Amino acid sequence: MLRNNKADVRVGLLGFGIVGQGLIQGINMQMSNISRRLGTPLKIQRALVQDTNKKRIIGAPELTTYACDILEDPDIDIVVEVMGGEQPAYGYIKQALEQGKQVVTANKLLLARHGPELKALARRNQTGLFYEGSVLGGIPILRTIQRGLCGDRVEEFKGIFNGTTNFILSRMYELGEDYSTALRLAQAAGYAEANPAMDVSGLDAACKLVILYRECFDLEIQLQDVTMSGIKHLDQRQIALQKRQGRIPKLIACAKPQNSEITVGVEWLPDGDSLSQVSGVQNALSLRTLLAGELFWSGPGAGGLATGGAVLGDIMESAERVLTERDRGFLQAGR
Ligand code: HSE
Repeated sequence: MLRNNKADVRVGLLGFGIVGQGLIQGINMQMSNISRRLGTPLKIQRALVQDTNKKRIIGAPELTTYACDILEDPDIDIVVEVMGGEQPAYGYIKQALEQGKQVVTANKLLLARHGPELKALARRNQTGLFYEGSVLGGIPILRTIQRGLCGDRVEEFKGIFNGTTNFILSRMYELGEDYSTALRLAQAAGYAEANPAMDVSGLDAACKLVILYRECFDLEIQLQDVTMSGIKHLDQRQIALQKRQGRIPKLIACAKPQNSEITVGVEWLPDGDSLSQVSGVQNALSLRTLLAGELFWSGPGAGGLATGGAVLGDIMESAERVLTERDRGFLQAGR
């Protein structure tokens, strides 16, 4: 393919927290690989932050406190939203899509609430909306469902969708640690949301379930369709009691569209269950399909590098689209 490889691809970041910094680390670790694969350099042009004086990682991009420096910069091809929360992320993403920029986001709350509308907006503006980083951290499950399983049909799924709660439950069960110590450690490791109530209430897992459900079954559901409970009610006494009977607590997300069972809640799994062996910050998904039967994935569900890597995968895919569009324009101009 003829490629105008003089121009780089430019990215603007909305937010520069755990995921944004993990993304920069991931890029710095394999810069030459990225340029080789794309055939042109990838440049992080600028990042939107609240406070430009806060200490950042080495190699941080130029910082700004004005969203317009990213959304209205014609040189920025791809807008990457890693700020989290519904607002102002929703308004920023809409604005970016309306301007025809490619958008990458890891924002599960936003996608659970507005995913179909934002996808339609991207289509109308002939651009792309990518969100692999929004579900199951480092496990590339959306691409697998959209591409790898496009000739098959998902019948049901069940999994561990939140790294923080799995980390807390594992430490409570394996080490006898109390809930608040385990939560503090999850926060220190960068696994928990800015407001950890989102993790421990089951809401984070419910958002991921909604996103995955739409991908798997091509059916529309909303957050309120999920029957949801979290892990806050669990204490050491209850865990010790169940442990004596060989039962392991896991926050399980489960969807069976044929009998409309869509739930997030604690299940006490027997030792032999494959999900019971998924420990710490790991996430897992067990999926049953019409043709392949039982499939199972596990991997890191949270953390800057794992989620940053998933976001980077989306950036690479959207950069390919930017370059293809550029080539097309280049060829048309040369006609
Ligand atoms: N707080 C989330 C979790 C981060 O613990 O799974 C990744 O989505």
